[in-house]
Amino acid sequence: MYRVGMGPERMHSINKEAIKTDLRPATEKDWLSISVLLATVFDSPYEARLVEKLRRDGDMAMELVAVDDGGCYAYIAFAKMLAPQGVWSLSPVAVQQARQGNGVGSEVIRQSLDEARQADANAVIVLGDPDYYGRFGFSLQAAQNLMTPFAQKLTMLYPIAPGTGGMRAAVSYPAAFFQD
Ligand SMILES: CC(C)(COP(=O)(O)OP(=O)(O)OC[C@H]1O[C@@H](n2cnc3c(N)ncnc32)[C@H](O)[C@@H]1OP(=O)(O)O)[C@@H](O)C(=O)NCCC(=O)NCCS
Repeated sequence: MYRVGMGPERMHSINKEAIKTDLRPATEKDWLSISVLLATVFDSPYEARLVEKLRRDGDMAMELVAVDDGGCYAYIAFAKMLAPQGVWSLSPVAVQQARQGNGVGSEVIRQSLDEARQADANAVIVLGDPDYYGRFGFSLQAAQNLMTPFAQKLTMLYPIAPGTGGMRAAVSYPAAFFQD
């Protein structure tokens, strides 16, 4: 069972903590199933291409999947940022439509952040909805001194190593993020 935090995060977790999701590292055998999931839940092919290019370029830090008889129903990936060193970027996270809204996505994000910590990531960046990612410890304030090519007001940081919260740095994303 995942750790339950305080405040709004706690309220969301309590309602949905019965959901148990077994995550494991993705292998090459999962790639087709992951592509199908990403193509289904996202409106554009951007995310599926992002993941494929991150793998090809050696810029993937971690991929985790939850699988049932029908294939991959939840997926999360983290890219290695070119800078700052040791920082990861969460992108993308996806849950099969039929399973959305039941806490699976929350558990996937929480478990994977624990894995990132255990893998000695210094911090994790995400670009997304502050209300949603704030539940998991991502903070706009912690990212306010980062210089990013993407929207500053949607850029959040989950600090892990001491001193990473509020760090002043230029952020450099792997090439896979810049698709035509
Ligand atoms: C985002 C996603 C992974 C969440 O998975 P989930 O299992 O539905 O998540 P949970 O059940 O734990 O949480 C549901 C909450 O997420 C919110 N949510 C769903 N998609 C969201 C999104 N794209 N941005 C922000 N919040 C989102 C829901 O409104 C709901 O809020 P509530 O708890 O206040 O009711 C899933 O909806 C999904 O795969 N969406 C399509 C892909 C996507 O947009 N991924 C995120 C960008 S990489």
